[in-house]
Amino acid sequence: MSALLYNEDALTGIERVADSSVDLVIADPPYGLGKDYGNDSDRLGAREYLAWSRRWIDAVVPKLKANGSLYVFLTWQHSPEVFSHLKTRLAMMNEIIWDRRVPSMGGSTRKFSSVHDNIGFFVKSRDYYFDVDAVRIPYDAETKKARTRSIFMGKKWLEVGYNPKDVWSVSRLHRQHGERENHPTQKPLEIVERMVLASCPPGGTVLDPFMGSGTSAVAAARNGRRFVGFELNPDYFAIVEKRVAETINGKHGGNQDVASLLSVT
Ligand SMILES: C[S@@+](CC[C@H](N)C(=O)[O-])C[C@H]1O[C@@H](n2cnc3c(N)ncnc32)[C@H](O)[C@@H]1O
Repeated sequence: MSALLYNEDALTGIERVADSSVDLVIADPPYGLGKDYGNDSDRLGAREYLAWSRRWIDAVVPKLKANGSLYVFLTWQHSPEVFSHLKTRLAMMNEIIWDRRVPSMGGSTRKFSSVHDNIGFFVKSRDYYFDVDAVRIPYDAETKKARTRSIFMGKKWLEVGYNPKDVWSVSRLHRQHGERENHPTQKPLEIVERMVLASCPPGGTVLDPFMGSGTSAVAAARNGRRFVGFELNPDYFAIVEKRVAETINGKHGGNQDVASLLSVT
């Protein structure tokens, strides 16, 4: 599957993506909280941040196919306003809470410590693609054992697992985590892969305007989806290239011709 990777400002690069050509947008923009991404992208005041958010949203929405979907990672500080704007363009299906499973130590003593991201799941039309079977979670052995009474025997749902709820409890990536790259807000593959499997058909196209370390590109490459993505910072972009090449070239299975699949600009 092809991956088009651009070391470029998404707001200029997206213009080259054809309208109605993308199945799934995964957007993990700067949070508007002053994180250091080696550039000024997260140094906007609240008003400017919202104006910028409206700009990228208005640029990506036309790229979605009629049955396409968009996920956006946000925090509670700006999610109400950004969700409000997205609702003028798309239908909101879920607010997913990513519980980062932060250990109970330290944190704020003047308010409750914030340990979650607010992820918006939006669709272009009610006819959107959604494959729940691809993301079912197996029941654990204990639950299965508790359902051994005859009324549960042979029940398909017990075998196929349950559909994920809107609270996703997945540990953030610690410094020592095997997946971890040198990026301050890298997302776990488990979360991004769930979005790809549920909301992009096999062979379909994923667009990520803010690739960071390239988690969405890896998720797409591992699962036979096409990919187009943008990242401003050249150091992070180098990480994206490395991760995608490793994925395509067999570190995670497969042994394909990387050059023909990976198109870097
Ligand atoms: C929250 S991080 C994305 C993290 C990513 N999801 C991951 O798992 O590694 C946001 C990224 O957007 C990049 N960025 C900020 N403004 C941008 C722009 N206008 N175009 C492209 N990338 C941008 C930042 O450099 C940063 O790496």
